[in-house]
Amino acid sequence: MPVRHRRTRIGVLISGRGSNLLALLEAIERGDVPAEVVLVVANRADAGGLERARARAIPTFVADRTAHPKRAERQELVRAALLAADTDLVVCAGFDEILLPPLVADFSGRMLNVHPSLLPAFGQTLHAQAEALAYGAKISGCTVHLVTDDLDAGPIVLQRAVPVLENDTVESLSARILAEEHLALPAAVRLFAEGRLRLDGRRVTVLDAPVG
Ligand code: GRF
Repeated sequence: MPVRHRRTRIGVLISGRGSNLLALLEAIERGDVPAEVVLVVANRADAGGLERARARAIPTFVADRTAHPKRAERQELVRAALLAADTDLVVCAGFDEILLPPLVADFSGRMLNVHPSLLPAFGQTLHAQAEALAYGAKISGCTVHLVTDDLDAGPIVLQRAVPVLENDTVESLSARILAEEHLALPAAVRLFAEGRLRLDGRRVTVLDAPVG
C-alpha cells in the first residue's frame, strides 16, 4: 500500500447510529489521523450517523433499501458515489450488508471493515457479541480488516481484546467491545493514511516508516 501524496480521502459506509464514524471524525479533528471524510453513505435514510456528517457539512449519499430493494443496483449507486467522490479509502463502519464483488474489486486493498469479534471467531454474523457470549468465550474483542470477497475473512490490520465477564449481557459485552472499536478503527485508518501497512499474502505488517 503506497505512500499517498495528499490527505487520504475517505468514504464511510454506515447503516445505523454511526458511533464508529464519530470516533473517526473526532480522531481526524484532533489531528490524529491525516485524512478527511469526503462522503458518508448509508443504506437506510434514517441512519443516525447521517446527522453526524450533516452537522459537519460532509456530503452524504443514501442508497435506501426501500427505494432500491435490489442489492446489486443499490451497491452500483454506492460504487458510483464513492468513485465520483475520488475516494482513496472506504471504511465500513457498521454497514450491515454483504458487499458484492464489483464494489470490493474497485477498492481492493483500500477498504476496511470493523467487526465486533476477534476474527476468525464469530464472523459472518450480525450478532457476533451474542454468539461469543452464548458460546462461552472468555475473551472477545474487535477486528479491523481489509475487505475481500470472503466475508469477514480479509487480512487483519488490528485487533483489540476484551474479557468476557461472568455477569455480562449482550449489551454490556457489546459496549465493552464498542469502546475498543472506537480506538481500533481510527488507529487502522491512521496506519493506512500514513502508508505504513504492507500486505504479504494475507499477513499485514505495520511498518515504522511509510512504504517507499
Ligand atoms: C459496531 O459494533 C460494528 O462493529 C458492527 O455494528 C456496530 C456499528 O455501530 N458491525 P455504530 O453504527 O458504529 O455505532
